[in-house]
Amino acid sequence: MSLWRKKSIAKLLADAENAEHGLKRTLTATSLVALGIGAIIGAGLFVRTAAAAGEHAGTAVILSFIIAAVGCLFAGLCYAEFASMIPIAGSAYTYAYTTMGELIAWIIGWALILEYALGAATVSIAWSEYLNNLLGGSIPYQWCHSPFQTSSAGVSGIINIPAVFILLILSLLLIKGISESAKVNTVIVFVKISIVLIFVAVGWHFMKPANHSPFLIPDNAPPVLDSNNKVLYDYSAAENHGWLGVLRGAAVVFFAFIGFDAVSTAAQETKNPKRDMPIGILGSLAVCTVLYILFSYVLTGIAPYTDFVKAGSEASISYAIEHYMIGFKWLAPLITIAILGGFSSVILVMLLGQSRVFYSMSKDGLLPKTFSDLHPRFSTPYKSNLILFVFVGLFGAFVPESVAGDLTSIGTLLAFVLVCAGIIILRKKDPLRPRPFRVPLVPYFPVFGAVVCAAMVASLGLSTLLTALGWMLIGLIIFFTYSRHHSNISSENLPEK
Ligand code: ALA
Repeated sequence: MSLWRKKSIAKLLADAENAEHGLKRTLTATSLVALGIGAIIGAGLFVRTAAAAGEHAGTAVILSFIIAAVGCLFAGLCYAEFASMIPIAGSAYTYAYTTMGELIAWIIGWALILEYALGAATVSIAWSEYLNNLLGGSIPYQWCHSPFQTSSAGVSGIINIPAVFILLILSLLLIKGISESAKVNTVIVFVKISIVLIFVAVGWHFMKPANHSPFLIPDNAPPVLDSNNKVLYDYSAAENHGWLGVLRGAAVVFFAFIGFDAVSTAAQETKNPKRDMPIGILGSLAVCTVLYILFSYVLTGIAPYTDFVKAGSEASISYAIEHYMIGFKWLAPLITIAILGGFSSVILVMLLGQSRVFYSMSKDGLLPKTFSDLHPRFSTPYKSNLILFVFVGLFGAFVPESVAGDLTSIGTLLAFVLVCAGIIILRKKDPLRPRPFRVPLVPYFPVFGAVVCAAMVASLGLSTLLTALGWMLIGLIIFFTYSRHHSNISSENLPEK
């Protein structure tokens, strides 16, 4: 059995047409842009911007956003070509199955678990942070933090209960089959964009030029001390100042862009996927990039970046409003409530995306049938949702936000690199297939995208790299002991060499 056997695109498209009864093509380019923004703006902006500024990049976190956006733009172009050419659900996993074969498809599917499942866990932890802030810090530290975290007062976390709570509620919603309708999503998107614009407009008047200078964290930046003069954070490591700090910051805030690829999963429900897919993917990316740059400029102008490794390290937006935007304290709880709603929609999309990827992998025989068993009444993959809840819940309960977030980023970046490679491969192997949207300057653009994404992978830090490697090894063991033998690609699907 070949490791490189592929699904044929023609067969995939035909299957999709057959399976399409009941799926309505209702989404337009505008609703796709809204879908993208709904999935994109979340913890990356409202939690990780402050973390990247405070720990690695200072005000230059703006440049970190630009670097991350460039990587996403090139990967996004590649996604757009695939999504317009193979306009069916399944995203990067499906694209890989048709271009690079089963093993690579498995690797991408396995990496996407990091993206979607750990992404949901990361945002649930952020949700817990903001909930606690809204309740005035009344949830005892040990019940809303992982055992790997300790408060400045020396209290150790035990379990993050609010994170598990929100995951449970949203998993149950998914089982009942409440999916985001385009209308509900549009409202949430409107709220999210409004929060960012209000924060930028009001915060603009509270910026202090001194906070923006120096732009990069200098290599002799003094360590941040706590009230007992103990070192809380040290900037001497290479990735904690200067340009390497900016690159490390890019890998941290890359999380904020994750989700634009979710647009491609809606290809089967799009009116004119060939035209609208590229607009949806690239349009949502463009809107978010502009908002992120404005937002990070204002945030680092309001508060000194060192605040974000101290009291401002949690629920940093509410912190900045309460401490620096005099007269606007009332705004903090309103923005926090809106952020909680925004986070919930991101978690929902991530959980939904994950169960769709599991569903496709299970239908292909690479995962057990349990993952595609449908509920007799709700017609949702309820067993998959429950297993997913246990898995994601364990991360939400016991892992710190930064660890889960970095693993999410590495999984996504890996998928992006492979999607960029897939474009080059398919242009060579199947040059005549109609491509309603074409990435310009192939192979340069995809190669450039892959290089920028790989650079961000490299700057994520050794422990993240090793953990991701361990995850991939587990995946390969499962592939060679189970999936390969259960795959149901039939011989008629085997493509010409
Ligand atoms: N981009 C999404 C977020 O920032 C995952 O929450």
